[in-house]
Amino acid sequence: PVKVRKICCIGAGYVGGPTCAVIALKCPHITVTIVDLNKARVDAWNSPDFDLPIYEPGLEDVVRQARGKNLFFSTDVDKGIEEADLIFVSVNTPTKKSGVGAGFAADLNYVELATRRIAAVANSSKIVVEKSTVPCRTAESMRTILEANSKPNCRFDILSNPEFLAEGTAIQDLFAPDRVLIGSLQTPEGKDACEALRSVYANWVPSERILTVGLWSSELSKLAANAMLAQRISSINALSAICEATGANIDEVAYAVGKDSRVGPKFLRASVGFGGSCFQKDILNLVYLSESLHLPEVAAYWRQVVEMNEYQKRRFSKRVVDTLFNTITGKKIAVLGFAFKADTGDTRESAAITLIKNFQAEKAFVTIYDPQVPHAQIWEDLKEASPHLTLEQIQKQVTITSSAVEACNKAEAVVIATEWKEFREIDWQDIHSRMSKPAFLFDGRLLVDAEKLRTIGFKVTTIGRGEVL
Ligand code: NAD
Ligand code: UDX
Repeated sequence: PVKVRKICCIGAGYVGGPTCAVIALKCPHITVTIVDLNKARVDAWNSPDFDLPIYEPGLEDVVRQARGKNLFFSTDVDKGIEEADLIFVSVNTPTKKSGVGAGFAADLNYVELATRRIAAVANSSKIVVEKSTVPCRTAESMRTILEANSKPNCRFDILSNPEFLAEGTAIQDLFAPDRVLIGSLQTPEGKDACEALRSVYANWVPSERILTVGLWSSELSKLAANAMLAQRISSINALSAICEATGANIDEVAYAVGKDSRVGPKFLRASVGFGGSCFQKDILNLVYLSESLHLPEVAAYWRQVVEMNEYQKRRFSKRVVDTLFNTITGKKIAVLGFAFKADTGDTRESAAITLIKNFQAEKAFVTIYDPQVPHAQIWEDLKEASPHLTLEQIQKQVTITSSAVEACNKAEAVVIATEWKEFREIDWQDIHSRMSKPAFLFDGRLLVDAEKLRTIGFKVTTIGRGEVL
């Protein structure tokens, strides 16, 4: 097998950046260059004061240790490709917005462009690794493009190596992954390429955690893992609706169910709905794949996971309106949290966006506070969510504040949309004293101690808990 000395990663995003920074840190003998067409992003990765383009606990420390030694960020995609023995393709694969499969299929345009660039520029053999999440059999298309355009004496071996990190815990997930999955063709060349990549991870990942499988299994496992994780959340959220209607408590139900070792306790936290760039996109991708394979029952099964998530967001918004005497018109609603989960500045598919849009439609005044998300990002997301409104129109109804206290000032209701630790530790007594009375609090994240807040005087509504009788 090739001894990997130079790695290029195409795509300096949430996956390419942290993943390859960690590879550089753990493999000082390998030079890692992360390239991207987006100059602003590359500049941020290179910024002298480490003002990195993504917020991720522990990431800055990793970049500080490796950058300039064996870790480089660059916009020179061609040079990165030319010099590398192994190339990660870690570009975005969003849901298609138009054309065939719009709203479901993954947009593979970026993967294809990156692949064509590799074919055009490479003067020596390369191992090309799919890091992006892609539909099953994408590696086949990549191989066809590479082989049809390659120069003499250039061999391309394609591997699938999906990434399982979660945002907010990316660095710890990369340092100690549950597993690293490598898919390859089961030919001697495919197995050699697999071994080359395996030996990179073997620098810090115990060998029993590096799984090697066939190419198609590897591609499908990524979609399967996300679909099954999201399915757990939709299951618990579906049960939370029953809890609210019966007086059962979803925390207690999740605890009791999760104690069964076959189910396990993780990922059973009821919420306003899952967000993030992956779950919805990857399930829709699986739905599309199932439909293309003429498996409509399979497609309908997975589609319901996304539909339940939409229902959960609608249901929560409606509960806010119902509780506030069936109208929030003209009322001030403070939304705490805008990121799709705690410990990230990422807002892609965040449930908060949908909630705020629903509150806007009810003509409420909304104030938003998030400890990490830049204000410009919030405006961009709200604009995209309501394309029929101008920014000026949105700003008549929505204000972004720089503290939770400011957001809650004179508000009729507080809605917790992201489980930031800071919101648990807030001086709720102080917040209560600043709010209109009765002061309502809606905990969409099972974050705060409802009983304690009730003694302060809040009227608390919690996901998955009925009225206390
Ligand atoms: P991202 O949008 O943050 O980053 C992708 C980067 O690729 C962008 O900076 C973009 O400019 C760059 N790019 C696109 N086309 C390019 C080209 N031809 N040449 C050079 N650069 C190019 O996306 P992400 O969140 O890092 O996700 C990347 C992939 O990883 C997706 O397929 C996603 O499904 C998958 N994934 C994401 C996560 C996650 O938590 N975000 C986790 C696992 C897997
Ligand atoms: C997910 C997968 O976990 C990861 O393995 C994959 O590589 C990418 O997609 P990510 O989207 O970054 O990671 O975060 P995750 O922790 O999975 O949370 C996704 C959403 O589900 C968040 O909105 C989170 O708040 C929500 N969630 C998670 C719940 O509502 N309840 C839970 O019990 C867990």
